[in-house]
Amino acid sequence: MVVDNLSNSSAEPLDRVSRLSGSKVTFYELDLRDISNLRQVFRSEAIEAVVHLAGLKSVGESVADPIKYYDNNVGSSVALTTVMSSCDVRTLVFSSSATVYGQADSPEYVESMAVAPANPYGHTKLTIEHLLQDLAGSSQHWRVCALRYFNPVGADESGAIGEDPVGVPANLFPYIAQVAIGKRRCLTVFGNDYATRDGTAVRDYIHVSDLAEGHLAALQKMPPEGNFFSAFNLGVGHGESVLDVIRAFEQASGVAIPYRLAARRPGDLAAYWANPAKAHELFGWRAKRGLQRACEDTWRWQVRNPDGYQSAANGSV
Ligand SMILES: NC(=O)c1ccc[n+]([C@@H]2O[C@H](COP(=O)([O-])OP(=O)(O)OC[C@H]3O[C@@H](n4cnc5c(N)ncnc54)[C@H](O)[C@@H]3O)[C@@H](O)[C@H]2O)c1
Repeated sequence: MVVDNLSNSSAEPLDRVSRLSGSKVTFYELDLRDISNLRQVFRSEAIEAVVHLAGLKSVGESVADPIKYYDNNVGSSVALTTVMSSCDVRTLVFSSSATVYGQADSPEYVESMAVAPANPYGHTKLTIEHLLQDLAGSSQHWRVCALRYFNPVGADESGAIGEDPVGVPANLFPYIAQVAIGKRRCLTVFGNDYATRDGTAVRDYIHVSDLAEGHLAALQKMPPEGNFFSAFNLGVGHGESVLDVIRAFEQASGVAIPYRLAARRPGDLAAYWANPAKAHELFGWRAKRGLQRACEDTWRWQVRNPDGYQSAANGSV
């Protein structure tokens, strides 16, 4: 069962999930902050646990409009946990982010490090983690995992479900895919003078299917005792540069990616990646798919859905 206000999505992917899984996904179009209707949903469905993915996620937009981010991200989390509490559902997996770490002394981020987000988006994620930690401390019934994603990329291997950003893609993968298919002329690489092996920024790119398996592992392996809150890094455990990604995508697609070098963007870090050992120790989870696989799956999705989920309406799928 899925609740979403469709502020950054459409219902089409849910139809595709229903088709792929052979199991109809029940969908409620609803804003999580609409407490009374959310309570109705909890009363009419048999819910044991919640995976809380809903949120706004643009760092730049959060700097320009922090109230919108606190209202939506923190507000929806307060509303959701209020309803969960009143309906006796107290098992939760939350989509947090590597953004909570901010500038750190080491590029390898480990959960025991100090956290200091550098932007309002990151502050909202950390505020929600604090809320959930306090809830877990308040009652022996709450069990909560905050999963700190690094850079999710790729698409479902079927080619039917993938990333379909509204407007100009803000992330590297969908941008490269749109250049490869000819929708955009050229990729801009921001910064080639970082202290990295080829001068471009290095990130930990994790395949979305590995990420999905991380959520299942968290739900299955979370300790049964209550009063539980813990944060886990979900990443592959090493970094790849922007030029590594371009080369891998060229290999996967067979298309040369034109790119130009530009100045660094303010606030971008040179390099960071996850230490994912904690998730492995507690959940037995580890990312299995690599960068090449993520490029191949993204390319399959892009070719089959040149106009994203609109492609269904255009008859491309
Ligand atoms: N994609 C990334 O790079 C990344 C990295 C780290 C963490 N995350 C987090 O993972 C989660 C999912 O990210 P995504 O990339 O799939 O983003 P997304 O925008 O595709 O998904 C978020 C969904 O939440 C919905 N939503 C937003 N506010 C809502 C509200 N008040 N009520 C109901 N629905 C609401 C949106 O319509 C959207 O479908 C987000 O919380 C994001 O902050 C994403």
